[in-house]
Amino acid sequence: MKSPARTTVTAALPYANGPLHIGHIAGAYLPADIYVRSLRARGKEVLFICGSDEHGAAITLRALKEGTTPQAIVDKYHALMGKAFVDFGIGFDIYHRTSSELHRKTSQEFFLQLNANGAFTENTEEQYYDTEAKQFLADRYIMGTCPHCGNPDAYGDQCEKCGSALSPKDLIDPRSTLSGSKPVLKPTKHWYLPMERSQQWMQEWINTGMLDGAQQHDPAEWKPQVLGQCNSWLKEGLRPRAMTRDLTWGVPVPLPGAEGKALYVWLDAPIGYISATKQWAFDHGADWEKWWKADDTRLLHFIGKDNIVFHAIIFPILLKEHGGFILPQNVPANEFLNLEGQKLSTSRNWAVWLHEYIERWPDRQDELRYALATILPEFRDSEFTWKDFQDKNNNELVAIIGNFVQRVFVLCNKYYDGKVPQPAPSNAAQGEHDTVLWGELSAIPGKVAEDIDKFRFRDALLTAMNAARLGNKYLTDTEPWKLHKTDPDRVRTVLFNSLRITAALSVVLEPFLPFTAQKLRTMLGLGELKWGDALREGLMVPGAPIAEAVHLFKPISDEEIAAEVDRLKSNTPVVQQPPATATAPVITPEPAMKPHISFDDFSRMDIRIGTIKEAEKVPKADKLLKLSIDVGEAAPRTIVSGIAQHFAPEELPGKQVLVLCNLEPRKMRGVESQGMVLMAEDAQGKLVFVQPGSEVPAGGEVR
Ligand code: 2FM
Ligand code: ZN
Repeated sequence: MKSPARTTVTAALPYANGPLHIGHIAGAYLPADIYVRSLRARGKEVLFICGSDEHGAAITLRALKEGTTPQAIVDKYHALMGKAFVDFGIGFDIYHRTSSELHRKTSQEFFLQLNANGAFTENTEEQYYDTEAKQFLADRYIMGTCPHCGNPDAYGDQCEKCGSALSPKDLIDPRSTLSGSKPVLKPTKHWYLPMERSQQWMQEWINTGMLDGAQQHDPAEWKPQVLGQCNSWLKEGLRPRAMTRDLTWGVPVPLPGAEGKALYVWLDAPIGYISATKQWAFDHGADWEKWWKADDTRLLHFIGKDNIVFHAIIFPILLKEHGGFILPQNVPANEFLNLEGQKLSTSRNWAVWLHEYIERWPDRQDELRYALATILPEFRDSEFTWKDFQDKNNNELVAIIGNFVQRVFVLCNKYYDGKVPQPAPSNAAQGEHDTVLWGELSAIPGKVAEDIDKFRFRDALLTAMNAARLGNKYLTDTEPWKLHKTDPDRVRTVLFNSLRITAALSVVLEPFLPFTAQKLRTMLGLGELKWGDALREGLMVPGAPIAEAVHLFKPISDEEIAAEVDRLKSNTPVVQQPPATATAPVITPEPAMKPHISFDDFSRMDIRIGTIKEAEKVPKADKLLKLSIDVGEAAPRTIVSGIAQHFAPEELPGKQVLVLCNLEPRKMRGVESQGMVLMAEDAQGKLVFVQPGSEVPAGGEVR
């Protein structure tokens, strides 16, 4: 592996179909920004690319919902997202957009080159078609029941509940997202990427880092969950994937006979990184190609876990088939962030929206960046709570950084009239505490950088914060306020050293807290600093002016936090109960507590005691059992339940269970399910029945 001369960092292009929330920031943008800032501070050549993903069903469906055009939607959200990124100090070199002319041209040329290279196969296949909307239904235009977990609202490309990648024909009981109608099958021609041709080299490249006989990356540096997801795809066997769609909103397929067809959004979106680079190069009179083609360039894609296969498998295949491009050296994907015990959800408005946060907490960007950086979902899902935000602010930002800086500036202003003190000559006034301080402090910049390089941003921040902890300890140990009269030489040394700690803080905290770092530099009277300046001798010049003491952070009260929690809860519509088949093992934490419902809401549910009479497996569905349950009616009801992995059919007859009887009937694998069995999950994640304490006649009402 060549040592990189430069790094191209991309952050997932967010769909321009809604505002950004904290989940987006914690998933891709904050880690990418921390990474890029740290490289820049070390004087490395780096280009940081992002932009809006403006094609695909995400946009057109939003336009339909808002009763407007796709162009109006992308214009609105591109502006809103671009501003939010700037507000939060996410320092892209360019924030581009895929509806631009340059992007259209770049992706069409890319497509034509692939076509000329024989990278596609052209196939005519039957696809679902909505006769009312007069449109083929791919990806998010079609919904149905997930064959893996029974989620009734799975999309044609993915089930968001269990994370499985799907194609429309996998869906049970498909329905059109546009009209709700049942689609019919109709032939249509598309350009497919025969990914199975890449199975061999992809398997080797992912797992050994070897490509065409050269070491391209070190798989030990890839996150286990990224390797895991790639390998589970590879294990299933790569399959052909259509790279075009029957759509008018998108980049038109630039071939004769392809009227009305557009590039698949997951073909055009990653090419968006390249067109953004071209735009940046054009704006700066620079060369774009070295950022994508030079073999001493390192390419990194920062993304959320739902984008892994697109960046680690499909895009690399496209780049290689095209020829001339380097492949990503790493894809440091994050897991998901939850909020107050629930999955973040745009549709349920369960989110902290950045543009709203900035209105309510102006000038508190670093407070949010800090709280998020301490809980980044680097290896597993994590959770943001307002209480934790308050604790991190009050107990860490205010109490550790704020307190240290405040004490140093108050004392320097009081004793030295706002000037950097002259330390005692050489080691004359050095004490044991100074030796310990420098010993520990000098290791910090290197350790922070090392952790950042390994994408361990939480650890890096913890180490950077240790510089402030050391500062506080140093002041507490040396107590300069007690020595001012008796040992002024010593006090000057202690406060000079403390100003140096503050300067070091402004360096090692800058990737995480850029606004605070800038304030610190201004207070110290310093300009731009590089990583190597952190502890540089001669940085602080005795006699140079420093600013007055200010509070860098303000405590956050319980009332302010309660208001945020109330606001979140009052925004949220009542969560719909999932149907019976969605009771498979739950992947993300379930709601801690749902918002209040009225007694009327409760009385509308008809919950009864049922006795299971028969149970059998549903053919070709791993997770489903067909139950026959007596709920006190003339004949038992049929209920399909996603519990096959938790119970053998033979152990069920005779069991008493709670049944929600008036849930709308729904067909699963051709069987109509007439209700839902209520389940709970034990500590091991196994589903268990909720049963009456003693035997009750079937049909007994639960009130
Ligand atoms: O998941 C998403 O939000 C996609 N818009 C990410 C695209 S990343 C890249 F390929 F552009
Ligand atoms: Zn599923």
